[in-house]
Amino acid sequence: MKKTSLLSVALSSLLAVAVLAGCGAGNQQGTGQQPAGQDSAGQAAGGKKLVLATSADFKPYEFHDLSSGKDEIVGFDIDIAKHIANELGYEIEIVDMNFDGLVPALQAKRADLVMAGMTPTPEREKNVDFSIVYYDSKNSIVSKKDSGLTKTEQLAGKKVTVQTGSIQEGAAKELQKTLQGLEIISLNKTGEIVEEVKTGRVDAAILENTVAKGFVDANPGLQFTTFEGDSELNTAIAFPKGSEHVEEFNKVIKAMQENGEMEKLIKKWFE
Ligand code: ARG
Repeated sequence: MKKTSLLSVALSSLLAVAVLAGCGAGNQQGTGQQPAGQDSAGQAAGGKKLVLATSADFKPYEFHDLSSGKDEIVGFDIDIAKHIANELGYEIEIVDMNFDGLVPALQAKRADLVMAGMTPTPEREKNVDFSIVYYDSKNSIVSKKDSGLTKTEQLAGKKVTVQTGSIQEGAAKELQKTLQGLEIISLNKTGEIVEEVKTGRVDAAILENTVAKGFVDANPGLQFTTFEGDSELNTAIAFPKGSEHVEEFNKVIKAMQENGEMEKLIKKWFE
C-alpha cells in the first residue's frame, strides 16, 4: 500500500493533465498538450468543452486509477461530472493540480469548474460561485493506532499535517489559538500528509472522515476519529464568479438527487 500511495503521488506530480476517456473527442495524455491560458477553457474556445480542475489526491472523490494499466482520474466527483456533462451536452477535460491552485485557476478562467470535494466557505465565496451542495463529510484526526491520539484537545504540543489551502488547514489554525505548541505542517497532497503520520515524522493529520477511511483501510497501523460535535462539511462545485453554468448544473444535480442517480453514486463510491 505504501507503494501505491507513493506512486500516485509521484504520478500526480508528473501528469499535469489527464483527459477523461469516454467523454468525447480530444483524448490526450501526458504533459505535452496541457490547456494553458484563456483560449483553452471551454467557453473562451467557443466550443462545448469544459475544463474541470481538480486535485486528484482525494479518494474516493477523485484519484488516479492505474489498475487498467493507464493513468486515469476517476471517482465520485468525476462520475457526477460525467453525468452532468452528458445531460447538458458538454465534453469535459480534466486538469490535475494542487488543491491551493484551484480557486486561482477559476479566477484566471483557466478552468470552467472545480470538483475537488470542495467545501463552500464565506472566504471562497468572495472569489468563486458554488453550486448547490451534493455531499457532506466531517473532519477527523488520523493518527497511529498506538498513539492514543483521538481528540482535538490532545493536539497541544503535537505536530499536525494538513493539505495546503484546505479548510482543514483553517481548522488547524483555529485549534492553534487555544492549544499550546500545536505545530502545523501544510503539504500539497493528501498522500503526503498521511505518509508523514505513517513514518512518525508528525503525530497526526486532519482529514475528512470520508477520505481518512480509505487511507486507514489501506494502512492497518493507522486509525481515524471523527471530530466530536463538529458540523457537517458541505461539498459543492465551484465556478468562476458570475459563471453561466451554475444554474444548469444545479438543475441536473437536483434531478440526480430526485431520481436516485446521486444515491447510486454515493453507494458506489462510499459503501
Ligand atoms: N473539503 C475540504 C476543503 O474544501 C478539502 C478538500 C480537499 N480536496 C482535494 N481534492 N484534495 O478544503
